[in-house]
Amino acid sequence: MDAETAERGDGSVHIPVLSAQVAAAFGCIPERARTSYVVDATVGLGGHTELLLATYPWLNILGVDQDPEALERARTRLERFGSRVRLCRGRFSELARVMRQQQIGMPIGMLFDIGVSSMQLDVAERGFSFQHDGPLDMRMDPSRDRPASDIVNQWDESDLADLFFHEGGEKQSRKIARALVEARARAPFMRTAPLADLVARALGGGGGRIHPATRVFQALRRAVNEEGEELLAALHTADHCLADGGVLAVISFHSGEDGEVKRFLNAAARDGRFKLTPRKPLEADQAECRANPRARSAKLRVAERVRSEVRGETEIEGGECE
Ligand SMILES: C[S@@+](CC[C@H](N)C(=O)[O-])C[C@H]1O[C@@H](n2cnc3c(N)ncnc32)[C@H](O)[C@@H]1O
Repeated sequence: MDAETAERGDGSVHIPVLSAQVAAAFGCIPERARTSYVVDATVGLGGHTELLLATYPWLNILGVDQDPEALERARTRLERFGSRVRLCRGRFSELARVMRQQQIGMPIGMLFDIGVSSMQLDVAERGFSFQHDGPLDMRMDPSRDRPASDIVNQWDESDLADLFFHEGGEKQSRKIARALVEARARAPFMRTAPLADLVARALGGGGGRIHPATRVFQALRRAVNEEGEELLAALHTADHCLADGGVLAVISFHSGEDGEVKRFLNAAARDGRFKLTPRKPLEADQAECRANPRARSAKLRVAERVRSEVRGETEIEGGECE
């Protein structure tokens, strides 16, 4: 099961994945970079940011997230670090603007822990859950104008089938889309539980190790939050904005996303813009997977920004991200 779709439903806090590996990835940032910032673009509940601030007392972090509720929780958790941490709301596609507004210059590190937090999954009212009934919403950023119910109730049967297949990897996507369109003609879907039941019935129950609605819910969440587009924006922003020698760390939970990150970094490494450190993705060991099932499908890719003199470009000292 993709960790991003694994629902624990036990109300426990979000445990940051691959903590030791994330801390080690940023360990090469020298103490003399103490005026620079690391951007945690998925600050979420502040787990990784807290770890980095505590491990490296010279680091400053700009924590960004599109979810205002997550930011509020992170603010409380990170209060003790005072001015070493700033928190801002924004999406990956808005990151360059946020960094410019905060006047942090070119960041010396960027972390993306992509996906959904346990808090988002566990709070039924956010509508991500097929285990706890809630409004069919799934917006990480509540100011987005299209909740999941709009897609479910308005898209054509063939578009829904394509979405479930391409974004969720659901092989029986056509069968589910047909059943959904028939059912919504009687009453629109406004809650998560009826949709999860419909999918389970369309698939004839079963589904093996995972809930039968896992893939459909993943596909809807990805569409609602435009996760594919946002990931590309994240990678391009890192490519444009990271300072010389800066660290890029990306954690993904989904093979399609990891493939995207891998393709991007391999191309950037071929062009001499990034060095992969290491070449292969880092994964959780058995002990972490046992303690935190979300970690099972987590992959961390780390790369270092090749210095501008090696790239044959000039980095503007104290420059801002364009
Ligand atoms: C897996 S959680 C991060 C958890 C965090 N690393 C921690 O240790 O607490 C992912 C977070 O990224 C945020 N997120 C996902 N996509 C985003 C995007 N495109 N722009 C901004 N934030 C995003 C989500 O709202 C969520 O809070």
